[in-house]
Amino acid sequence: MLTLPGYWACLSYLNWELVKGYCTGCHSAMKFTQQKLTRDRWQELLVWMQKEQGLKGLFAEDEVKVLDYLSRHYTTEEEKRKQLVKRHKLDEETGLIVADNWILVKGNCTGCHSARKFLQQRLSRERWQEVIQWMQKNQGLVKFDSDTENKILNYLEAYYSPQG
Ligand code: HEC
Ligand code: HEC
Repeated sequence: MLTLPGYWACLSYLNWELVKGYCTGCHSAMKFTQQKLTRDRWQELLVWMQKEQGLKGLFAEDEVKVLDYLSRHYTTEEEKRKQLVKRHKLDEETGLIVADNWILVKGNCTGCHSARKFLQQRLSRERWQEVIQWMQKNQGLVKFDSDTENKILNYLEAYYSPQG
Protein backbone atom coordinates (compact mmCIF):
# COMPACT_ATOMS: atom_id res chain seq x y z
CA MET A 1 0.00 0.00 0.00
CA LEU A 2 2.80 2.43 0.81
CA THR A 3 4.51 1.82 -2.47
CA LEU A 4 4.19 5.41 -3.67
CA PRO A 5 6.63 7.18 -1.40
CA GLY A 6 6.34 10.77 -2.61
CA TYR A 7 2.61 10.45 -2.81
CA TRP A 8 2.04 9.47 0.75
CA ALA A 9 2.45 12.90 2.22
CA CYS A 10 -0.44 14.41 0.28
CA LEU A 11 -2.57 11.31 0.76
CA SER A 12 -2.28 11.52 4.52
CA TYR A 13 -2.89 15.20 4.41
CA LEU A 14 -6.17 14.60 2.63
CA ASN A 15 -7.19 11.99 5.13
CA TRP A 16 -7.69 14.43 7.94
CA GLU A 17 -11.30 14.98 6.95
CA LEU A 18 -11.91 11.28 7.12
CA VAL A 19 -10.43 11.12 10.61
CA LYS A 20 -12.45 14.12 11.66
CA GLY A 21 -15.60 12.40 10.42
CA TYR A 22 -14.91 9.07 12.05
CA CYS A 23 -13.21 10.07 15.25
CA THR A 24 -14.71 13.17 16.75
CA GLY A 25 -18.33 12.12 17.17
CA CYS A 26 -18.09 10.52 20.64
CA HIS A 27 -15.17 12.38 22.11
CA SER A 28 -13.08 15.33 21.04
CA ALA A 29 -9.93 14.92 18.99
CA MET A 30 -8.00 15.73 22.18
CA LYS A 31 -8.52 12.08 23.05
CA PHE A 32 -6.03 11.08 20.41
CA THR A 33 -4.00 14.12 19.40
CA GLN A 34 -2.04 13.72 22.65
CA GLN A 35 -1.12 10.14 21.80
CA LYS A 36 2.18 9.02 20.34
CA LEU A 37 1.73 5.48 19.08
CA THR A 38 3.25 3.21 16.48
CA ARG A 39 1.12 2.02 13.59
CA ASP A 40 0.63 -1.37 15.25
CA ARG A 41 -0.62 0.25 18.44
CA TRP A 42 -2.99 2.47 16.47
CA GLN A 43 -4.36 -0.58 14.74
CA GLU A 44 -4.95 -2.34 18.06
CA LEU A 45 -6.67 0.74 19.31
CA LEU A 46 -8.98 0.89 16.31
CA VAL A 47 -9.89 -2.77 16.79
CA TRP A 48 -10.61 -2.07 20.46
CA MET A 49 -12.71 1.00 19.58
CA GLN A 50 -14.75 -1.07 17.16
CA LYS A 51 -15.21 -4.09 19.43
CA GLU A 52 -15.67 -2.42 22.77
CA GLN A 53 -16.57 1.21 22.27
CA GLY A 54 -19.15 1.15 19.52
CA LEU A 55 -17.04 2.71 16.75
CA LYS A 56 -18.86 1.73 13.57
CA GLY A 57 -18.61 2.18 9.86
CA LEU A 58 -14.92 2.02 9.15
CA PHE A 59 -14.75 0.46 5.72
CA ALA A 60 -11.58 -1.52 5.12
CA GLU A 61 -10.20 1.06 2.72
CA ASP A 62 -10.99 3.92 5.07
CA GLU A 63 -9.40 2.11 7.96
CA VAL A 64 -6.11 2.01 6.09
CA LYS A 65 -6.35 5.73 5.41
CA VAL A 66 -7.26 6.55 8.98
CA LEU A 67 -4.32 4.44 10.13
CA ASP A 68 -1.98 6.18 7.71
CA TYR A 69 -3.04 9.51 9.07
CA LEU A 70 -2.90 8.65 12.76
CA SER A 71 0.39 6.79 12.57
CA ARG A 72 1.98 9.53 10.55
CA HIS A 73 1.01 12.47 12.73
CA TYR A 74 0.45 11.04 16.18
CA THR A 75 3.51 8.99 16.76
CA THR A 76 6.90 9.13 18.42
CA GLU A 77 9.78 11.16 17.00
CA GLU A 78 11.68 7.95 16.42
CA GLU A 79 8.82 6.45 14.47
CA LYS A 80 8.41 9.63 12.39
CA ARG A 81 12.07 9.41 11.56
CA LYS A 82 11.77 5.78 10.53
CA GLN A 83 8.81 6.55 8.29
CA LEU A 84 10.60 9.50 6.75
CA VAL A 85 13.59 7.34 5.89
CA LYS A 86 11.30 4.62 4.58
CA ARG A 87 9.62 7.07 2.21
CA HIS A 88 12.94 8.13 0.71
CA LYS A 89 16.06 6.51 -0.55
CA LEU A 90 19.35 7.12 1.17
CA ASP A 91 22.39 8.03 -0.88
CA GLU A 92 24.75 5.08 -0.51
CA GLU A 93 27.86 7.17 -0.50
CA THR A 94 26.93 9.82 2.05
CA GLY A 95 23.81 8.55 3.81
CA LEU A 96 21.92 11.71 2.83
CA ILE A 97 18.18 11.43 2.25
CA VAL A 98 17.58 11.60 -1.50
CA ALA A 99 15.03 14.39 -1.95
CA ASP A 100 14.75 17.87 -3.48
CA ASN A 101 18.09 19.69 -3.39
CA TRP A 102 20.04 16.85 -1.86
CA ILE A 103 22.62 16.99 -4.68
CA LEU A 104 23.31 20.59 -3.75
CA VAL A 105 23.92 19.59 -0.17
CA LYS A 106 26.09 16.68 -1.18
CA GLY A 107 28.13 18.98 -3.41
CA ASN A 108 28.56 21.76 -0.87
CA CYS A 109 28.60 20.01 2.47
CA THR A 110 30.63 16.84 2.19
CA GLY A 111 33.96 18.18 0.96
CA CYS A 112 35.59 18.96 4.31
CA HIS A 113 33.86 16.46 6.55
CA SER A 114 31.55 13.58 5.83
CA ALA A 115 27.79 14.02 5.94
CA ARG A 116 27.92 12.08 9.19
CA LYS A 117 28.88 15.37 10.79
CA PHE A 118 25.33 16.57 10.37
CA LEU A 119 23.09 13.57 9.64
CA GLN A 120 22.36 13.21 13.34
CA GLN A 121 21.59 16.88 13.85
CA ARG A 122 18.03 18.11 14.29
CA LEU A 123 18.21 21.86 14.04
CA SER A 124 15.73 24.57 13.21
CA ARG A 125 16.24 26.57 10.03
CA GLU A 126 17.65 29.46 12.07
CA ARG A 127 20.14 27.21 13.82
CA TRP A 128 21.22 25.69 10.51
CA GLN A 129 21.79 29.15 9.17
CA GLU A 130 23.94 29.96 12.19
CA VAL A 131 26.01 26.81 11.71
CA ILE A 132 26.57 27.70 8.06
CA GLN A 133 27.53 31.27 8.94
CA TRP A 134 29.87 29.97 11.61
CA MET A 135 31.61 27.72 9.09
CA GLN A 136 31.81 30.57 6.61
CA LYS A 137 33.39 32.83 9.20
CA ASN A 138 35.75 30.35 10.83
CA GLN A 139 36.13 27.24 8.71
CA GLY A 140 36.63 28.49 5.19
CA LEU A 141 33.21 27.56 3.85
CA VAL A 142 32.43 29.67 0.78
CA LYS A 143 29.56 32.18 0.80
CA PHE A 144 26.54 30.96 -1.14
CA ASP A 145 24.31 33.09 -3.32
CA SER A 146 20.93 33.49 -1.66
CA ASP A 147 19.17 31.05 -3.98
CA THR A 148 21.67 28.28 -3.21
CA GLU A 149 21.61 29.04 0.48
CA ASN A 150 17.81 28.94 0.52
CA LYS A 151 17.73 25.59 -1.21
CA ILE A 152 20.29 24.13 1.17
CA LEU A 153 18.33 25.45 4.12
CA ASN A 154 15.06 24.11 2.67
CA TYR A 155 16.59 20.68 2.51
CA LEU A 156 18.16 20.75 5.95
CA GLU A 157 14.98 22.10 7.49
CA ALA A 158 12.83 19.48 5.81
CA TYR A 159 14.95 16.47 6.73
CA TYR A 160 17.30 17.37 9.55
CA SER A 161 15.20 19.49 11.86
CA PRO A 162 13.10 18.56 14.88
CA GLN A 163 9.98 18.38 12.71
CA GLY A 164 11.75 16.55 9.87
C1 HEC B 1 -18.87 5.37 18.91
C2 HEC B 1 -18.13 6.32 19.71
C3 HEC B 1 -16.67 6.50 19.40
C4 HEC B 1 -16.09 6.80 18.18
C5 HEC B 1 -16.77 7.07 16.87
C6 HEC B 1 -14.64 6.86 18.42
N1 HEC B 1 -14.38 6.62 19.74
FE1 HEC B 1 -12.54 6.64 20.61
N2 HEC B 1 -13.40 6.18 22.41
C7 HEC B 1 -14.74 5.97 22.63
C8 HEC B 1 -14.95 5.57 24.00
C9 HEC B 1 -16.29 5.24 24.64
C10 HEC B 1 -13.66 5.54 24.60
C11 HEC B 1 -13.30 5.09 26.01
C12 HEC B 1 -13.78 6.02 27.06
C13 HEC B 1 -12.94 7.25 27.04
O1 HEC B 1 -11.71 7.14 27.19
O2 HEC B 1 -13.52 8.34 26.90
C14 HEC B 1 -12.72 5.96 23.58
C15 HEC B 1 -11.35 6.12 23.80
C16 HEC B 1 -10.44 6.48 22.84
C17 HEC B 1 -9.04 6.65 23.08
C18 HEC B 1 -8.32 6.51 24.38
C19 HEC B 1 -7.86 5.11 24.57
C20 HEC B 1 -7.10 4.97 25.87
O3 HEC B 1 -6.26 4.08 25.89
O4 HEC B 1 -7.34 5.75 26.79
C21 HEC B 1 -8.46 6.96 21.88
C22 HEC B 1 -6.99 7.21 21.59
C23 HEC B 1 -9.52 7.00 20.90
N3 HEC B 1 -10.72 6.72 21.51
C24 HEC B 1 -9.33 7.25 19.55
C25 HEC B 1 -10.34 7.23 18.59
C26 HEC B 1 -10.12 7.32 17.18
C27 HEC B 1 -8.75 7.47 16.53
C28 HEC B 1 -11.33 7.26 16.57
C29 HEC B 1 -11.65 7.26 15.08
C30 HEC B 1 -11.15 6.10 14.34
C31 HEC B 1 -12.34 7.14 17.62
N4 HEC B 1 -11.69 7.10 18.83
C32 HEC B 1 -13.71 7.09 17.43
C33 HEC B 1 -15.74 6.10 21.70
C34 HEC B 1 -15.59 6.40 20.37
C1 HEC C 1 35.31 24.41 3.82
C2 HEC C 1 35.11 23.21 4.61
C3 HEC C 1 33.69 22.90 5.05
C4 HEC C 1 32.56 22.78 4.26
C5 HEC C 1 32.46 22.88 2.76
C6 HEC C 1 31.46 22.50 5.17
N1 HEC C 1 31.92 22.41 6.46
FE1 HEC C 1 30.82 21.91 8.09
N2 HEC C 1 32.49 22.08 9.26
C7 HEC C 1 33.76 22.39 8.81
C8 HEC C 1 34.68 22.40 9.93
C9 HEC C 1 36.17 22.67 9.84
C10 HEC C 1 33.91 22.10 11.07
C11 HEC C 1 34.38 22.04 12.52
C12 HEC C 1 35.35 20.97 12.80
C13 HEC C 1 34.64 19.70 12.94
O1 HEC C 1 33.72 19.62 13.77
O2 HEC C 1 35.02 18.74 12.23
C14 HEC C 1 32.54 21.87 10.61
C15 HEC C 1 31.49 21.51 11.42
C16 HEC C 1 30.20 21.27 11.00
C17 HEC C 1 29.11 20.91 11.87
C18 HEC C 1 29.19 20.68 13.36
C19 HEC C 1 29.00 22.00 14.08
C20 HEC C 1 29.02 21.80 15.56
O3 HEC C 1 28.34 22.60 16.22
O4 HEC C 1 29.68 20.87 16.03
C21 HEC C 1 28.00 20.80 11.11
C22 HEC C 1 26.60 20.46 11.58
C23 HEC C 1 28.39 21.09 9.74
N3 HEC C 1 29.74 21.37 9.73
C24 HEC C 1 27.51 21.10 8.67
C25 HEC C 1 27.87 21.48 7.39
C26 HEC C 1 26.94 21.73 6.31
C27 HEC C 1 25.43 21.55 6.41
C28 HEC C 1 27.66 22.12 5.23
C29 HEC C 1 27.14 22.57 3.88
C30 HEC C 1 26.38 23.78 3.87
C31 HEC C 1 29.06 22.10 5.60
N4 HEC C 1 29.15 21.73 6.94
C32 HEC C 1 30.14 22.38 4.76
C33 HEC C 1 34.13 22.65 7.53
C34 HEC C 1 33.26 22.65 6.43
